Parts: sequence; structure tokens; C-alpha cells
Amino acid sequence: MRISVIGCGYLGAVHAASMAHLGHEVVGIDVDERKIALLSSGQAPFFEPGLPDVLASSIASGRLRFTTDFAAAADADVHFVAVGTPQVADGDAADMRYVDAAFSTLLKHAKPGDVLVGKSTVPVGTAARLAEQVESTVPGATLAWNPEFLREGFAVKDTIAPDRLVYGVPAGEAGERAARILDEVYASAVATGTPVIVTDYATAELVKVSANAFLATKISFINAMAEIAEATGADVTQLADAIGHDARIGRRFLNAGVGFGGGCLPKDIRAFSARARELGKGEALAFLTEVDKINLRRRERVVELVREEVGDLEGARVAMLGLAFKPHSDDIRDSPALDVAMRLAEARAVVTATDPEALESAAGKAPQLTYAASAEEAVRDADVVVLLTEWPQFTGLDPAAIGELVARRSIIDGRNCLDPAAWRDAGWTYRGLGR
Ligand code: UGA
Repeated sequence: MRISVIGCGYLGAVHAASMAHLGHEVVGIDVDERKIALLSSGQAPFFEPGLPDVLASSIASGRLRFTTDFAAAADADVHFVAVGTPQVADGDAADMRYVDAAFSTLLKHAKPGDVLVGKSTVPVGTAARLAEQVESTVPGATLAWNPEFLREGFAVKDTIAPDRLVYGVPAGEAGERAARILDEVYASAVATGTPVIVTDYATAELVKVSANAFLATKISFINAMAEIAEATGADVTQLADAIGHDARIGRRFLNAGVGFGGGCLPKDIRAFSARARELGKGEALAFLTEVDKINLRRRERVVELVREEVGDLEGARVAMLGLAFKPHSDDIRDSPALDVAMRLAEARAVVTATDPEALESAAGKAPQLTYAASAEEAVRDADVVVLLTEWPQFTGLDPAAIGELVARRSIIDGRNCLDPAAWRDAGWTYRGLGR
């Protein structure tokens, strides 16, 4: 199939490369010239395992190209819109400017029979509004809403072999045709029995935000239990293991720690709440405000633990292991690790931070921190070591060897990912969250 992908960020770049990998002819379009130049030369503009390989092979096959020229979309029959919907500067809602601009420009190049597919995470009601614009501007073109569930760090795998496909389409023949075309786009996943849910626009939009709201709630639930564990001497990790054995609950996404961040969960729960309030249903999602608060309280808790360990934050030497919002990513958007590092620096601690992939992006955002190329370099003469992103490079550290480098053997495990006994046996004061 001939496909265009509008927006070549985390979502769009991976989608474009993966669709070409599956055999489609794809053009990726973005207004950012630097990004397009990098992608055209086969380089990923961000760290994502597996992406450089599919980019290189798809470009070499001649099936994938990138351009800043929107007119290139005219050659395609299926158009995916994958631009960002960040949080607005002055509130909780999603900023819809990029989605609206992408559709307006795309419609100048679309033709009757084309299927325009929204992938961006949007407030429920957006697709119905855009469908009217599509029908009035290019009669005979159809809008579908096909939310994306990929996880950063596993984005290529999640795109090529998703765990489910959701198509929001209009009722009637045009919608049935759009669903058939999407089945062709995802033919390899459909052939292996991937569940396909064909539904209306509103349900498709809601599937996306409710999935992220559920995941955020699950994490904040266990972090709330961590708060109670801290007050009672219980161990939240054992608690999670024990309740996780109940298949109805499940152990995944029950890791207590410094909480969730990134470009999705935090802004998505806020935008979802904002949309519910607009709909007069704010009460239904009031719990998401608590989910957000529990999550942010964990960051402050880490700062408190550091203070307890060093006494006075001013002048204390803090080694920060991790800056990305999670391992296998260089993404620092709303990263708990970077947030805590900045709070400590604000309190005049001397913070030396390291991360296998996020150093460059962090240095751009937080020049007040000192950066080190490795854990060994970061911990030198530290009064306390704080682990906030569970990269294998950090979880595999040898407490005895690292102990030789620090000024004081004190570690705060902000992801509950270390073996407390091993660290304590090596003479460390170990503090986890909720244990
Ligand atoms: C999330 C969803 O998991 C994807 O399904 C969704 O497609 C994506 O948002 C999106 O909307 O685009 P992602 O942001 O890549 O994916 O990251 P997650 O793996 O969900 O992790 C989010 C945050 O939660 C991270 O900071 C992670 O450290 C934290 N987390 C995760 C916990 O604190 N505890 C856990 O048990 C799991």
C-alpha cells in the first residue's frame, strides 16, 4: 500500500519505518528539517532499540523516504497523522494545534477514496469534529481513528506486532471500507490472529486514554501502598508480589518507586480529566487528580530521603544514576529522575548525574547539573547515591566495587530494583521506597 505518515517524532518515525519494513511504500513528512535530514540518512533522531536497523533496511529497499514537502502525501492512499498533543502551557488540556494543522495541510493533498487515519492521542470528540472537516473538504475521503499503544523502548516490536488493533470508523459502507484498508495495512498482524476491535470514533479515542489512565492508576495504587508501608514497616515489593499472584490483579505495572513520567501517562491523565470536566463529568475522573498527586508526592519523598541521609542538602554531593523517564529510552519529558535532580540542585546540593542515553537531552534542559559519562565517574566522592532509572548498567553494579569510590556508602533505590541484602552486606545504608 502507499502510505504517508505526518509527524516523525517517537510515534511517527517508528510507524513509518515499521510500515515500510512490512512491505508498504511509505513517505514520512515533518516540518522539522533537522529530523528529516537525520531520518533520510538512516539515523534515528532519538534512542529507540531496533529503529536504526528498520530505518536502514527500509531506506535501502527504496520503500521508505522522508521529506518536509507535504505535497508528497498526494502519492499515498492511506495517511497516518502521528503528531504530538502535549499539555497546554496554562492548563491540563491537550494542545491540539499540531493535530489541527496537520489535518488542514493534509487535506490540501488528499483525494477522494483516501483514508486519513488519526494516531495521535486526542480528547474524545476530536475525530467526529475532524470527520466533518474531511467530508466537507475532500468528499469521498474517510477518517478513521487508530490509536497507538506502543511503549518507548519496545516501539518497533509493538508497532510490527501489536497486542491489539483498534479502528474507530464511521457507520456504513465508508467505514467498512476504511476498516478493510486498515486490515490490509496491518495484514501481517491480522494474519497472526491479533485481536481487531472495529468501533466508533469516540470508543476508539477513549480506549487509548482509558488504557493510559488505568496504567497510571495501577502505578499510583502501588505507590499509595508504599506510603502506607513506610508508615507501618511493611515491604511494598513483597506486597506487590503477593497481590500480583492473583491473576485478576497481575504483577505487571505494580512496581513502586519514584513513579511514572514520560511524554504520555502524565499529560494524558491530565488531558483526560480536563476533557471530562468539559463534558460535565469531572466527578467521574476526580480520582485521576489523586493518581497524579500520589505520583508527584513520590518525587518529593526521594528528596526527603536524600535529606535524611545527608542531613543538610546544601553542599551535599549527590550521585544521580538515571535521567531518562525509564530505561531503554533517552526521553526526559516529565522524567521523575530529572525532576528530582533539579529539586536537589535547587536546594543547593551538588548533583552529578549520569545516564547511558539521556545525557545530551538532559544537559540541554538542566545545565545547572554536572554530568558524568559513567556510574563510576558519577559516584566518585558522593555522600549519597540515588538510583532513579533502572538501566541494567545500574542494577548490575557491584556494591563492593562501587563502595570503594564513594565518600559514604549510602544508596537510595528509587525504583526498588536492587537487592537490599547484597548492598547492606557490602556495608551500605540501603533505602528503598515503601520497603
Ligand atoms: C505508555 C504506555 O505504556 C503505552 O501503552 C502507550 O502507548 C504510551 O504510554 C503512549 O501513550 O504513547 P511509555 O510512556 O513508553 O508508554 O512508558 P511506560 O512503559 O508505560 O512507563 C511509563 C512510566 O511509568 C515510566 O516512568 C516508568 O518508569 C513508570 N512505571 C512503569 C512505574 O513507575 N512502575 C511500573 O510498574 C511501571
